[in-house]
Amino acid sequence: MRRWGLIGVSAGIAAGIVVVGVLLARGGRPVAGSRLRVLFTGETMGELEPCNCSGKMAGGLPARGGYVARQTREFLLLDTGNVGNGARDFEVLRAEAALRGMKDMGYDAVNIGEHELWLGREKLSRLGRLGVPFVSANVLDETGLPAAKAYLLLKCSGLAVAVTGLVESGRYETGSGLRVSPPREAIARLIPQLRRKAGVIIVLADLDVESVRQLARDFPEITAILFRGRGDSHAPEMVNRTAIASVYGEARYIADLTLTWETPQHLSARGEAVLLDERFAPSLKIIQASIEWYKHAVHERTFDLAQPGPGSELIRFRQPENGNRYVGSETCKKCHPYQYERWKAQRHSRAMDSLRKAGYDWSPECVVCHTVGYATPDGYRTMKETPQFGCVGCEDCHGRGLILRNGGCKGLARKGSEQTCRQCHTMSKNAAFDFQKQWAIIQHKEKK
Ligand code: HEC
Ligand code: HEC
Ligand code: HEC
Ligand code: HEC
Repeated sequence: MRRWGLIGVSAGIAAGIVVVGVLLARGGRPVAGSRLRVLFTGETMGELEPCNCSGKMAGGLPARGGYVARQTREFLLLDTGNVGNGARDFEVLRAEAALRGMKDMGYDAVNIGEHELWLGREKLSRLGRLGVPFVSANVLDETGLPAAKAYLLLKCSGLAVAVTGLVESGRYETGSGLRVSPPREAIARLIPQLRRKAGVIIVLADLDVESVRQLARDFPEITAILFRGRGDSHAPEMVNRTAIASVYGEARYIADLTLTWETPQHLSARGEAVLLDERFAPSLKIIQASIEWYKHAVHERTFDLAQPGPGSELIRFRQPENGNRYVGSETCKKCHPYQYERWKAQRHSRAMDSLRKAGYDWSPECVVCHTVGYATPDGYRTMKETPQFGCVGCEDCHGRGLILRNGGCKGLARKGSEQTCRQCHTMSKNAAFDFQKQWAIIQHKEKK
């Protein structure tokens, strides 16, 4: 993960000279010396708290709230979109929890990005009523009217700022009741209006960097384009007269950007992507409340994860093969006592304990890797119904065990491999995973 710049422990507490834009700006338009500070996030994908799968990890609402709460200079707080990570019930609940926390932090606007399109009009407008406004210049409902506010007019540091949003058209799956018009045409139509009303125009964009550069070249009236980070953050850069920047990192970073006008025509941008680690958490109780709300909302509920829908890659749907079924690790015990005892002594066998302690034992996005066959008809459902699958069991690596219960496993038991491990020991949960080393810890070849 590339960061924009290194920052010290006193992170972001406004080092340097504070120029008071209020005194300088006239009629909300930038003058020499005007400054505008914009904090923004994007691609937070429903990450409410760090999972802490590999020790203390960064990110989540509490640390973000902690960072925001420490800031003393005026700022706008924006999001480039993709607040959630899917359209199924639990994913919508996560998005809702995230938006509740963002409301408490005082977010000014969120762009409608790809993941918001997945939701369709009804769910989107419900989420839009939670208190953080969605903006979009080119997402429409079925009647052709804007599905959210086309733009917002905000005041900050004496400047009148118009904030609008764009999302790529014709590329993303779009839930029912929404359609997307071509972004270039939409912004071209809107700009004259925004110029009349505001001195600064900020576009939040779920567009790739090439389209962003093109927009900046063609529409110098746009002050800044904050766009979708894809696997990496993009440090502030001036393209013609427009500042562009993005931030990425599944809720682990917040971008802290300052726009400075040396003259009304000459803008410069600088900033940093701040890693939201434990320096900023624990934070305000008020933000913790949105997480508690989520845990409560999913408690004792089972979700239909087979439900089709975009964004479902999180849950790998493992289809049962030829009548074979999961049977649980106990079935293997009588013939493989050595392997069983080794497994029992290791953390794979207690993987649900970790979730229970963290309070996420009902949360599908966690349960998927901490159990046997979650989201399949014959795998884990709840601890009550299927305690035998409430762990990382033999069958996570060797495949369904019904055909093994009478022995004769040779050629039938799936061979575990590095690929098997990496289904769960992923980059985001266990970046330091080293197959040779980890395998040495859990290997269970019996010495004859
Ligand atoms: C993609 C798979 C995956 C998902 C999803 C996942 N985990 Fe994990 N989790 C792991 C792996 C792998 C480990 C072991 C990492 C290691 O060996 O260091 C782990 C370990 C843990 C531990 C034990 C850490 C320790 O040191 O004792 C906790 C707690 C945990 N996860 C919580 C969560 C929570 C909470 C969620 C949901 C927000 C979650 N996990 C989602 C794969 C996952
Ligand atoms: C009735 C006894 C019996 C049961 C129950 C049993 N196995 Fe086996 N398994 C064996 C024997 C015996 C072997 C030695 C190789 C052979 O002859 O198939 C073996 C071999 C294996 C191997 C090595 C396969 C290879 O190709 O070298 C794996 C992996 C395995 N078993 C996994 C499991 C798992 C997982 C379960 C539980 C779902 C299980 N076994 C249940 C008897 C059993
Ligand atoms: C985290 C993945 C994982 C889990 C969990 C796991 N195994 Fe294995 N197992 C492997 C791998 C990898 C190998 C070595 C490659 C192979 O032969 O499949 C192996 C090998 C074996 C072998 C062959 C050992 C030998 O002497 O050659 C047996 C038998 C076996 N496992 C049984 C079990 C049983 C029973 C359980 C549950 C109690 C279990 N395994 C849990 C991954 C796993
Ligand atoms: C189904 C998901 C899954 C798969 C597949 C998986 N793991 Fe894990 N692994 C986990 C989780 C979850 C934990 C953490 C359990 C906990 O503490 O909650 C973990 C923990 C571990 C640990 C720490 C064990 C200890 O007792 O300290 C090692 C080592 C490990 N895994 C190695 C492997 C290897 C090697 C493979 C592949 C052969 C593998 N895992 C496959 C999910 C998985």
